[in-house]
Amino acid sequence: MGARSIVAILFLFLAFRSGVDAASKRIRDRHPCKRLVFFFHDILYEGNNAKNATSAIVGSPDWANRTILAGQSHFGDLVVFDDPITLDNNLHSKPVGRAQGFYIYDKKDVFTAWLGFSFVFNSTQHKGSLNFAGADPLMNKTRDISVIGGTGDFFMARGVATLMTDLFEGDVYFRLRVDIKLYECW
Ligand SMILES: *[C@@H]1O[C@H](CO)[C@@H](O)[C@H](O)[C@H]1NC(C)=O
Ligand SMILES: *[C@@H]1O[C@H](CO)[C@@H](O)[C@H](O)[C@H]1NC(C)=O
Ligand SMILES: *[C@@H]1O[C@H](CO)[C@@H](O)[C@H](O)[C@H]1NC(C)=O
Ligand SMILES: *[C@@H]1O[C@H](CO)[C@@H](O)[C@H](O)[C@H]1NC(C)=O
Repeated sequence: MGARSIVAILFLFLAFRSGVDAASKRIRDRHPCKRLVFFFHDILYEGNNAKNATSAIVGSPDWANRTILAGQSHFGDLVVFDDPITLDNNLHSKPVGRAQGFYIYDKKDVFTAWLGFSFVFNSTQHKGSLNFAGADPLMNKTRDISVIGGTGDFFMARGVATLMTDLFEGDVYFRLRVDIKLYECW
C-alpha cells in the first residue's frame, strides 16, 4: 500500500470519527434544531354527517360495523382521515395543511391506537411534508410518536412529536395538539 492510500484511509477514518462525535454530541445536547406546534381536527363520520366528516371507519371487526366505533375500546377499527391542520385550536381557522393517514384501535381493554400519517403543507410558511408513526396510548395526557422523515422544507427531518388531546366531544370530534421537536434538520 502506497503512502498516498494510507493518508487517504487515515483521512476517511478521521472524517468518520468526527461525524460520530458530532452525532453523539447532538444526542447528548438534546436540543431540537426545530420546534413547531400545530393542531389538527378530526370529525368522524357517524351516520349522518357525511358532508362535515373528515374521517371514516373503513374497517371494523366482524362483530361491529363501520357506522359506529366498536365496543371493547373500539378494538379492530381502522379509521382513515384527511384532517385540517391549524396554528391555533380553532377548527375554523385557515388551515395551513392537511393531516392525512390512518389510526387503528389496537387494544381491547384500554383506548390505544397506532398512528401512521403525514402532515402535508402547502402554505406560505411551509411547503412539503412530515411523516409520523407510532403507538398512541391516548388515555395518557401526553404521548410521543416518531417523526420518521420529511420532504420539501422538511427534507430528511427526524424527531419526536408530543401529542396531547386538546378536546374531544363524544366519538365524533377530537382535536390534537402536536408539539414537533426535530433533532435532525437539513
Ligand atoms: C361540523 O362539525 C363540527 C365539529 O363537531 C361542528 O362544530 C360544526 O358545527 C359542524 N358543521 C356542520 C355544518 O355540521
Ligand atoms: C352499527 O352498530 C350500532 C351499534 O351496535 C347499531 O346501533 C347500528 O344500528 C349499526 N348500524 C348499521 C348500519 O348496522
Ligand atoms: C399548492 O398551492 C399552490 C398555490 O395555491 C397550487 O398552485 C398548487 O397546486 C398546490 N399544490 C398542491 C400539491 O396542493
Ligand atoms: C402514560 O402515562 C403513565 C402515567 O402518567 C406513564 O407511567 C407511562 O409511561 C405513559 N406511557 C407512555 C407510553 O407515554
